[in-house]
Amino acid sequence: MTLPSCSRWRRRPGSLLYLLYFVGFLICVCIIAIWYGVNSDRDYIHPLLTQLIPAGHCACQTSTTFQCSSCLTCSEQSLAPQPSPTPKWEFTSDRDANNQGLSRVQCKAAFPGLYEDIVRAETFWRSQGALVTEDLDRVPVEFGMVRAFISRGELSVVAARARQEDHRRKIVAALSSIHRALVADSDRASRRDIEFIFSVEDKVEDVTNAGHPVWVLARSAEEQGVWLMPDFGFWAWDSPLNSLGPFDQVVERVKRADIPWAEKTPQLVWRGKPSFAPKLRRALMDAARDKPWGDVKQVDWLERTNIMSMEDHCRYMFIAHVEGRSYSASLKYRQACNSVIVAHKLQYIQHHHYLLVPDGPHQNYIEVERDFSDLSRKIEPLLNDPATGQRIANNSVRTFRERYLTKAAEACYWRQLFDRYGNVWNSSVPIWSDVSQRERGLRYESFILMDSQTMFDFRATDSIT
Ligand SMILES: *[C@@H]1O[C@H](CO)[C@@H](O)[C@H](O)[C@H]1NC(C)=O
Ligand SMILES: *[C@@H]1O[C@H](CO)[C@@H](O)[C@H](O)[C@H]1NC(C)=O
Repeated sequence: MTLPSCSRWRRRPGSLLYLLYFVGFLICVCIIAIWYGVNSDRDYIHPLLTQLIPAGHCACQTSTTFQCSSCLTCSEQSLAPQPSPTPKWEFTSDRDANNQGLSRVQCKAAFPGLYEDIVRAETFWRSQGALVTEDLDRVPVEFGMVRAFISRGELSVVAARARQEDHRRKIVAALSSIHRALVADSDRASRRDIEFIFSVEDKVEDVTNAGHPVWVLARSAEEQGVWLMPDFGFWAWDSPLNSLGPFDQVVERVKRADIPWAEKTPQLVWRGKPSFAPKLRRALMDAARDKPWGDVKQVDWLERTNIMSMEDHCRYMFIAHVEGRSYSASLKYRQACNSVIVAHKLQYIQHHHYLLVPDGPHQNYIEVERDFSDLSRKIEPLLNDPATGQRIANNSVRTFRERYLTKAAEACYWRQLFDRYGNVWNSSVPIWSDVSQRERGLRYESFILMDSQTMFDFRATDSIT
C-alpha cells in the first residue's frame, strides 16, 4: 500500500512540471478565449465567454446618474424668476426649425432644458475662481484638439492637430458649426471675447483630463471640468468610409422614408459591430436572440453582411441604442425615426441627453438595465399595446426631431456655450502676438482654405506651447 505512494512521491518533480504545463496551457486558452470574445464580430459566442469578457472601458455596473429626466418640464430656466412680461414668443417647428439666428430671448423660450450642462460647467468653474489664459496654456494640444478664440464675433484658430484625415474633417466640421452659430447672430460684434480648446476625440481621457476646461463631445458624470459641445455630425458626418451628409439632410431622408406606425414591423432592430463594446453589445444580442420581437444582428463591413441604411431602421417600431467605447453618435440619427428608442442606462452624457425622459406622460424612450436583463419585460407589454408605443414614438419626434435636434437648437446651444463660458472667462483675448509680430490666430475663413496637409499640425505663430 505504501510502496505505490512512495513511488509517486519519487515522481514528484515530474508531476509538478506537468501541473505547471497544464496551468500554463489553461492560462493560454483563457487568454485566447477572452481575446476572441472581445474581438469577435460573430453572431454567437458561448455565454461562458460573454461572462469572461472584461467590461473594459465601460464599467458595466455603473451608469450615468445625472438627474435630469425632469428637464423638459422643470429646467434651470423655469426656476429662475421670469422678467418682463413681453408678449410671449413661441417656437413653431415648421417655421423656426431651420432658423439659426434666433435671439437670446427666443433661444431661451424655444429650448427649455437644453442648456443644463452648460450651466453645470459654468457653476463648476465659478466655484474654482474663473478661467484664464494660463488654464489653457496648461492643456497640451494633442491630436484631435484645437485651440481657438472668438474676438469681436470672429473665429480664429491658434493651433490645430489631426492625426489622420478623420480627425481633420471632424475639426473642420466643428469649426464650421461654431462659425455658423456666430454669423447667424445679429449681435455678433458685441459678443464677449473668449479663448477655448476643444477636442473631437470620443473620450475625454483619450486626449486630456477632466480637470481641464476643454469642450468635448461627451462626458461621464464624474468628468466635471469639461464643457459639452454638439457633435460635428450636425454640420456633416462625411468620413472617408461613411458619408452621411449634414444631419438635417439625413432627417429629411428619414422623413421621406418613414411609414405609418401601424405598418411598422413590431420588432426591435439593431445592427452594429459587437467588438466596439463587447460586454454591452453581446448582452443585447443575447437578450434578443430567438425572440419573435428581436431583429438584432452583427454587421460585417468587409463582407457587407447585415448592413442596413438609417431609413430602413425606421421601418421597425423599436430601435435599440447601445454605447460603443464611448458615447455613440448614432443616437440622434435613430431619434430621427418615428420609432421607439430602446437604450440601456447611458454612461456618457451628450449635450441633448438631458431631454431624455424614461417614464411618465412625456416619456420619449425606453430605458433598460446595462445588462439588458429587463429587455423582454419592457418590450413585450408594448407589443400588445401599440398605442403606448406610438405615444412614446410621437413624444420622441416632437422632442428631438422637431425641436431639440434642429439647426435652430444647435445654434442656440453653441451661442449659449459661448455666453456662459464667457461669464467665467477672465482674461483678455489679444489678436496680435508681440513676440511673433503677427496675428496670434488664423481666421476661420483662411483656415478652411489651407491645403489639408497644413491643417494636420497647425500653429498660427511659433510662440504657442
Ligand atoms: C478677474 O481678474 C481680475 C484682475 O486680474 C481680478 O481682480 C478679479 O478678481 C478676477 N475675477 C474673478 C471672478 O476671478
Ligand atoms: C401620434 O401622432 C400621429 C400623427 O401626428 C397621430 O395621428 C396619432 O394619433 C398619435 N398617436 C398617439 C398615441 O399619440
